[in-house]
Amino acid sequence: MPGSIDGWKDKILFTPGPLTTSRTVKQAMLRDLGSRDQEFIGVVRDIRARLVALAGAAPGEYEAILIQGSGTFAIEAVLTTTVPRDGKVLIVINGAYGRRMVTICEVAGVDHVALEFPENTPCDPAAIEQALADDDAITHVAVVHCETTTGIMNPVADIGARVHAAGRVYFVDAMSCFGAVPTSVAECHIDYLVSSANKCIEGVPGFGFAIAKHDPFMKTEGYARNLSLDLYAQWRGLEGNGQFRFTPPTHALLAFHQALVELEEEGGVEARGARYRANYETLVAGMRAMGFVEYLPQDLQGYIITSFRYPGDPNFSFEEFYSRLNDRDFVIYPGKVSGADCFRIGNIGRIFQADVRALLAAIREIAQEMGFMA
Ligand SMILES: Cc1ncc(COP(=O)(O)O)c(C=O)c1O
Repeated sequence: MPGSIDGWKDKILFTPGPLTTSRTVKQAMLRDLGSRDQEFIGVVRDIRARLVALAGAAPGEYEAILIQGSGTFAIEAVLTTTVPRDGKVLIVINGAYGRRMVTICEVAGVDHVALEFPENTPCDPAAIEQALADDDAITHVAVVHCETTTGIMNPVADIGARVHAAGRVYFVDAMSCFGAVPTSVAECHIDYLVSSANKCIEGVPGFGFAIAKHDPFMKTEGYARNLSLDLYAQWRGLEGNGQFRFTPPTHALLAFHQALVELEEEGGVEARGARYRANYETLVAGMRAMGFVEYLPQDLQGYIITSFRYPGDPNFSFEEFYSRLNDRDFVIYPGKVSGADCFRIGNIGRIFQADVRALLAAIREIAQEMGFMA
């Protein structure tokens, strides 16, 4: 029966999320705790403190605000509840997640302007600086750190220095890399950084979070254009009685707390990044040996997720390839690049080089079965 737990076996998720999690993270959810329970409130408090530390910030300098929903909800929370009515956001785009921020602003009526780069090109800090010099009305700049569309890394520190020098507020969508790519919010001059529970911290889906610089964030009271995503009100609730304003994802929070403990045990962000990088290197070497070609040049490619071009062979069909891998319990991901047929393989989550080698062996077998040459 679909969804039955009888005889279940985990698939290995080589995706941008949700990701493979440890057994102990899943086990942490085998408890029912009330949302007003002092133990639960303590867990939430500890999660928030650990997130601030993970962002390389001092307590009091930045605030961690948890918000129910997927990662997009947290991005929408920042864009629609921390930008004043007379604010204007410069949205820097080189992939689908940058474009999604434009849609969020369009739907909510947040004034914005887009600065778009090709999907195989990092966002250019000098062009952003120029855009700010050209338009005094821009108050905020929004950029994606790892554009998961391709896996490209954007230069968030260089952009941050210029945004800061121009006196604007800086928002970074670090959804797919926070926890695995060392990032100091203070050094990068980031005012709001967003990620979610089910990415590199290796929790389960259920909420996202923003790490907000205390002083500018305190000025955002009353800016919200909606109720449930109001970041300032959420913070006030969490600071006041320690509770979420509306039903919290209790089990996902217990899992996330365990995931944060396991991140620390692994050696923190550096060690996690090193494991993902080793996964990436094993993957790319094995895929190249079979003839697959990455979409991005190597010097632009991060170690989070890789887009591979479809093989030119007429015997290749992505749906068939995907479904044969899925039958062997390996889950990869469709592409999102606009101008090229690609699929994606993620290196993040509770996966190791042995898992990547097993995936590569399955890909080799399937290529033979389907009769395509990469
Ligand atoms: C960079 C980036 N931003 C936003 C999102 C959206 O997150 P969600 O699908 O959890 O809403 C993702 C998801 O992979 C992402 O990689």
